Amino acid sequence: MCSVVGYIGKNYSRAFVMEGLARLEYRGYDSAGFACLSPESHRLLYAKAEGRLSNLAKKFEQTPIDGHLGIGHTRWSTHGVSSENNAHPHFDCEKRISVVHNGIIENHHELKSKLQAGDHVFYSDTDTEIVAHLFESLLLTHQTFKGAIVDLVSQLEGAYAFLVLMQDFPDQMLLVRKRSPLCIGIGDDEMFLGSDLLGFAGRTDKVLFLPDESFAIVTRDTIQLYDFKGASLPLNVQTVDVRWMDFEKQGHEHYMLKEILEQKRAIHDTVGFLHGASGQIWDLLGVSSDFIKQLHKINLMGCGTSWHAARIAQFFFEEICLMPARVHLASEFRFMPFFTETNTWYIAISQSGETADTLEALRMINSMKLPTATLTNVASSTMVREAGGFLLTQAGPEVAVASTKAFSTQLTALYWLAHRIALEKGIISESDLGRAEEDLLVVAEVLENTIENYKFDIANKWAKQYAHYKRAIFLGRHTSYPFAMESALKLKEIAYIFSQCYPAGELKHGPLALVDAETPIFLFSHQDELIYQKLLSNAQEVKARGGHLIIFAFDGQTELIELANLVFVIPRVKPLLGPLAMTGLMQFFVYSIAKELGCAIDKPRNLAKSVTVE
Ligand code: AGP
Repeated sequence: MCSVVGYIGKNYSRAFVMEGLARLEYRGYDSAGFACLSPESHRLLYAKAEGRLSNLAKKFEQTPIDGHLGIGHTRWSTHGVSSENNAHPHFDCEKRISVVHNGIIENHHELKSKLQAGDHVFYSDTDTEIVAHLFESLLLTHQTFKGAIVDLVSQLEGAYAFLVLMQDFPDQMLLVRKRSPLCIGIGDDEMFLGSDLLGFAGRTDKVLFLPDESFAIVTRDTIQLYDFKGASLPLNVQTVDVRWMDFEKQGHEHYMLKEILEQKRAIHDTVGFLHGASGQIWDLLGVSSDFIKQLHKINLMGCGTSWHAARIAQFFFEEICLMPARVHLASEFRFMPFFTETNTWYIAISQSGETADTLEALRMINSMKLPTATLTNVASSTMVREAGGFLLTQAGPEVAVASTKAFSTQLTALYWLAHRIALEKGIISESDLGRAEEDLLVVAEVLENTIENYKFDIANKWAKQYAHYKRAIFLGRHTSYPFAMESALKLKEIAYIFSQCYPAGELKHGPLALVDAETPIFLFSHQDELIYQKLLSNAQEVKARGGHLIIFAFDGQTELIELANLVFVIPRVKPLLGPLAMTGLMQFFVYSIAKELGCAIDKPRNLAKSVTVE
């Protein structure tokens, strides 16, 4: 999504803002812009460019604008096409107020009509521009700056985080937050502003996360924080450790490759962390041991890859904890009938901890005073702050838009959690939990070794061969069905190959008509004998119709292996962990196809890492 970065202080702002935007660019990359207050002319200066941040950087070669107050933005288009005109910052009529914004102003049509009737002239198709114009008119009618802000936020509907730089207030900047995150890094005679602290990682470890529905007036050495009614709020400054090093490619061609190859380490770290936290786990998760003992049902919520992890984990909770688990697609959740039940628990799963749909689902449950928790990879995320409790996957920063190690560590944590709940309920013993941890470490080894075994052939032979296909079908059963969904998502997302996924049993109910030699079929096997036999029949049905089969099979599944046009054989692991064992290889295969096709792997077209709009 969009990212905002700002600076106010003793130094010039442009280098910092550009560096911050570069770190956050993976979240949105349709256009970029920068505005600053010129120390010479005392006027707002700006530059904008369509496309990547590098296009904006080129503009500075001719016009090297800079100042001690600066704001910048990278955009992921929601309102208006990707163009220089629609790039932020946006301005009021007199170009005395500049705004960069992340989020959506939902009532912008209505506000725009009113402002146009009052002679305001708009230059872009964005919802953001109305903020600058509305603020312009409110500053004229209100006696105090604060009064104008309170009126401004009372009129804006939606989710937003914005920074405002004003020519007439040359010593301060305004930050406003509702639902979208915004934070301030406190330095020595300087303040770093951003939609994510990653934007200023390494500059300071003192961070103020703006509470929801608050605004801040910031100078180089002061912060005044208010709620939306204008009442003062205390400054809850936290010390946060963010290492920028983790965000570098470390010699790999793409972040995605680096992150695929980090999975063994990430799984080990996650298991190690959970093992150490086992004694305090219910405190961390914001529930009691009694609550877990009484627990009748678990609800998992997420989007995209996190939803797929939840779909696989449904089997963990049902088969290990012997209780029903329900998985909710967070983007649909709030629009479905809701039935309140007792002894249920809601867990929001999200790599970023910021996905708007998941966050809103979490907020809905919170508002009903039902128990919630989040499983996320980002300690400083909004979900961690808002959920009743949290568990952190230890994947380390995931930069590539396509989720890889976040997915495998989500599966790891959910498998562990299912065992930990089962232990609390007296279904398994302490040593069973220990064995589950060992099983996870074994799978981490398998995940890494299978990539190692096949990587040469994939990179040099098969990626080339399969890059030519225009579409693919993905099949699985039981846990391998949601895994097939995740695999199809990966192929769509980074290689732009149309991929359709079905539970293998559904094949004969329609999709079989699509089978031809031009549509490879990825089939993901299972170690359960009954499920394996059913998958084998499905593979035979495909073969009998001249289909082309790419099979991920387990050791010893000879009949299935013999049907394959291309086969990957994976060592046997605990059956429920089959998807985790296949994860690295599937990701590496898809990555290699996308590379062969010359796709923008880390930043696929139209996508963003953190989807902070609904
Ligand atoms: C995964 O490869 C995708 N980029 C996407 O589906 C992602 O998983 C989804 O947007 C949810 O993100 P989250 O885990 O940060 O909530």
